Amino acid sequence: MVKAPAILTIGDKKVELPIKSGSIGPDVVDIGKLYGQTGLFTFDPGFTSTASTESKITYIDGDQGVLLYRGYPIEQLAEHGDFLETCHLLLYGELPTAAQKADFDNRVTRHTMVHEQMARFFTGFRRDAHPMSVMVASVGAMAAFYHDSTDINDPLQREIASIRMIAKVPTLAAMAFKYSIGQPFVYPKNSLDYSANFLRMCFAVPCEDYEVNPVLARALDRIFILHADHEQNASTSTVRLAGSSGANPFACIAAGIACLWGPAHGGANEAALKMLGEIGTVDRIPEFIKRAKDKNDPFRLMGFGHRVYKNYDPRAKIMQRTTHEVLSELGIKDDPLLDVAMELERIALHDDYFIEKKLYPNIDFYSGITLKAMGFPTSMFTVLFAVARTVGWIAQWKEMIDDPAQKIGRPRQLYTGAPQRDYLPVGNR
Ligand code: SDX
Repeated sequence: MVKAPAILTIGDKKVELPIKSGSIGPDVVDIGKLYGQTGLFTFDPGFTSTASTESKITYIDGDQGVLLYRGYPIEQLAEHGDFLETCHLLLYGELPTAAQKADFDNRVTRHTMVHEQMARFFTGFRRDAHPMSVMVASVGAMAAFYHDSTDINDPLQREIASIRMIAKVPTLAAMAFKYSIGQPFVYPKNSLDYSANFLRMCFAVPCEDYEVNPVLARALDRIFILHADHEQNASTSTVRLAGSSGANPFACIAAGIACLWGPAHGGANEAALKMLGEIGTVDRIPEFIKRAKDKNDPFRLMGFGHRVYKNYDPRAKIMQRTTHEVLSELGIKDDPLLDVAMELERIALHDDYFIEKKLYPNIDFYSGITLKAMGFPTSMFTVLFAVARTVGWIAQWKEMIDDPAQKIGRPRQLYTGAPQRDYLPVGNR
């Protein structure tokens, strides 16, 4: 249905701006011709009101707390699906048939090993390097090892690069972890499924057999599903912008990892756990809530708030359940961090400031507690987020490359700097 255009009146000039509708969600005002018609730019730092692209992959309703991957609710995928079939859904738009699932799982499984020379690449890092710095470097370095899948104009190479990254990023993540603790790398084992294989690569040691705990493998698989994609968030927008220049897929995903690292984004799970540790006990919570409300204090409650969810993050609810599942499986009864987290959530959800600002726990609030209980150090939390989000970044990158109307992203600005002025020799300054 064609909607009546928006009319923008600027002085004595009226400009018609087309209104476009999606399948669900807010309409958009198409301003593509605004500058040409008016000489004006729009101004929206942080893109709070800007749709940067059309997409068919993920839909979020921040007010209703809805998250759909290709139309399927995250609750149903987390409950009934597994991570690799979610990858198939995000990449190709449909849940796989049994035959397609077997083929896709096999293709990913058979790409999990990395070029043996990548192991030597790691030895250049200090052992105490943050694993995210190793991930940015090693995923970017994949372009140096897999030249035969860097031509973005070749659909076959795009497909191979996609499978390689979904398959090899967990291997590189496990290698980054092993390297940081001085243990030998563990090769992938094709007889294990995706998440079990990752747990084994992280926690097995050569001197004894390692049995994967199926409850922990299932919990990790669900955590990967929850983190797989999330519309045009900061790191996905980074991947799209990098890809719009024609950069190779490995470089684009490395850019996404770099952006995810920030504590306002994927680094929040690490920051949230550090914050819970800093609070330490339930009786110190009011002191931190007071700081979070203080405009002059940069402190924020990590794991709370979201640009889009102005209601509960649906992933946080599933994450909370998974946290309790993992803690009970591991026989962890009274985790002091969990006590602080549960009390902090209870207080924040009843506090006027957080209600007024619509600050609810987000996915990062509980994930840190779960990953710590599973044996991951805090520095690995955002790495696991990157492992899961790799498929979302790739799906969004492929959608952009496949778009015939795709062009390089090049925003403009509101310039408030010095008007033109002439050079002064140093003696005259
Ligand atoms: C992720 O975009 C995505 O989809 C991201 C993600 C994904 O899957 O890709 O969902 C993953 O990044 C989740 C978010 C993780 N980040 C954190 O938990 C860090 C803490 N949260 C904040 O930094 C903040 O809430 C953001 C960055 C998440 C959202 O910030 P916005 O939308 O830019 O909101 P804002 O900073 O403008 O805050 C609005 C108000 C402000 O007060 P006023 O200036 O209006 O008076 O709320 C306050 C803020 O001061 N506020 C907080 C707060 N978050 C916002 N106050 C205390 N604690 C907080 N956590």
